[in-house]
Amino acid sequence: MEIKVKHTDIRQHRTDCAVIPVYEKRRLSAAGKALDELANGALGRVLRSGDLDGRRGQSRLLPAMEGLPCARVLLLGLGREKDLNERGFRDAVTLAWRVLQDTGSRDATFYLGESKVGKQGEEWNIYQAARLLRLASYRYTATRSDDRAPKAALRRVVLDVADKRHLPRARRALAEGDATGEGMNLARELGNLPGNICTPSHLASEARKLAKGCESMRVQVLDQKAMEKLGMGSLLSVAKGSRQPPRFIILEYRGARGTKAKPLRPIVLVGKGITFDSGGVSIKPSAAMDEMKFDMCGAASVLGTFRALAQLQPKVHVVGLVPSCENMPDGAANKPGDVVTSMSGKTIEVLNTDAEGRLILCDALTYAEKYQPRAVIDIATLTGACVVALGKHATGMLGNDERLMHELERHGQDTGDRVWQLPLWEEYQDQLKSNFADIANIGGRDAGTITAACFLSRFTEKMKWAHLDIAGTAWHSGEKKGATGRPVPLLTRYILSKAVKKS
Ligand code: BES
Ligand code: MN
Ligand code: ZN
Repeated sequence: MEIKVKHTDIRQHRTDCAVIPVYEKRRLSAAGKALDELANGALGRVLRSGDLDGRRGQSRLLPAMEGLPCARVLLLGLGREKDLNERGFRDAVTLAWRVLQDTGSRDATFYLGESKVGKQGEEWNIYQAARLLRLASYRYTATRSDDRAPKAALRRVVLDVADKRHLPRARRALAEGDATGEGMNLARELGNLPGNICTPSHLASEARKLAKGCESMRVQVLDQKAMEKLGMGSLLSVAKGSRQPPRFIILEYRGARGTKAKPLRPIVLVGKGITFDSGGVSIKPSAAMDEMKFDMCGAASVLGTFRALAQLQPKVHVVGLVPSCENMPDGAANKPGDVVTSMSGKTIEVLNTDAEGRLILCDALTYAEKYQPRAVIDIATLTGACVVALGKHATGMLGNDERLMHELERHGQDTGDRVWQLPLWEEYQDQLKSNFADIANIGGRDAGTITAACFLSRFTEKMKWAHLDIAGTAWHSGEKKGATGRPVPLLTRYILSKAVKKS
C-alpha cells in the first residue's frame, strides 16, 4: 500500500472514499462542509436523520452521491472537537482502516489533517496516520497454513494536508511515520516468531539482510569463540545451558562521519536478545511461559530501528549491539551460587538464573565503551516487576544522565510511545551486595526494576546511559497476543533529533 501526502481540492479530487471527521452535535469538519455543499446538503441530512451524531467511535459509510467526485464518503465520529486527544485520533484512524477493508475501495483520501489534536500541529496527524496505516497492514502468517492473506483492497492512501504551507513538514512526517511503521512491523514479526525459529542465528541473519539493502550499514556477527576471546564470561554463562549457539550482533549505521579533527561519536543501542527465557535452573512456572519467546523484543526493537534508519537515511552515526542466546536448564547451565567473571573484570554471583537479562547486557554494555558513545540506550524485557509497577502502557526508564532521560521522556510524549522514569538512588545499590563476588545478580523482592537497573549501572559508569525496561510494553497478552513493535517510535525519533540537518 502506497501512502502519500497531498493538498487536495476536495471539490475535484477523485477518490474511492473520502474519510471525513464529524464532531459531536453533528458538526462537520471544513472538508465535510465543502462536500455537503456540493451534494446539496445530503451529508447534513444524514446527520439530522440521527444515524450519527459525531460521538467518538462512530462511523458511517455513505454510498456514491450526486455531485461528488468521490465514490464514497466515510464519516468518522471524533467526539467534542476541543477534547480531541491523541488516543481519540489514533482510534479513529484504526477504525477508518477497518471499515475501509470491508468496502471495494482501492484508494482512499483521509481529511484528518485539519483536526487539531491537543497542542500538536498538523504534522503530528500525518505522522500518526502513516504509522498506524502501516501497522494495520501487518498480519502474522509465517507459521500458519490457513489462508489469512489480507484482502489487499486498499492500494493507495492519500493523507490530505489541510494547510498548504504545512506540506514540507507533512512530507517529513509521512516519511518518518512510514519508516517507523515498517520498523515496528519488523520488530513485531521477529517477536511473534516462535523460539524454535527465531534463534540467535536467525536474528543474526535478519541483521545481515538489513545491511544488504543499505549502503551505509554494516553488520558483524561474533560467535562463541570470538566472545570467549573478549572475555564475555557473564553472557556466555547464560548461553552455556542451551543447544543453540549464542550470537553477538553488531550493526553500524553511518549516515554521517564528522571530520577528522572531530569525529562523530555514535549513539549506541543495546537490545536484550534472549530468544527464549525458561528461567534456566531457577525455572519459571509453566503458565504463560510461551510468552518468554518475546524476551528478545529489545533486540527486535534495535533491528526495527535500523530498518527505519535504512529507509530514512538520516545523517547520523548509530551502533546497535545485540547479545543473543537462550536461557535453558541443562547440565552445563548456570546454577544458583555460581560466580562468573564479566568482560569488565567484575565478578557476579548468580543467585537466580532467571535474572539472565542483566547477565548478557552487562557484557554488551562493557563492549559499548569502545565506541565512546555520545549516549548508550539499552532496551530490555528485563523485569516482571516493571509490569507490576507501570502496567502495559509505559516503558520503565532509569539511567545516569538526566538530560538524556528528559529528551527520551519528551520524544515518548510526542510519538505516543511513552516512558516513565523510576529513581536510581544510591540507597538501592546496597541490595546487590554479595558475600562471594563483587555483585549479586538479584536484589531481593523490593524494587525489582530498580535493582535490575542498579546492576546495569555498575557497567555504564563511563557513559551517558539510559535503560528502557519494556517488559510491559513490548507485547500484548490474551486474545490480542503479539508483539507491539515498541519502542521503535521513541528510538527512531530520538535518533532523528540527533541527525545533522540536510541542507
Ligand atoms: N524476561 C524476564 C522478565 C519478564 C518476566 C518480562 C515476565 C515480562 C514478563 C526476566 O529475565 C526475568 O525473569 N526477570 C526476573 C528477575 C528476578 C529473578 C529478579 C523476574 O522479573 O521475575
Ligand atoms: Mn529471566
Ligand atoms: Zn528474561
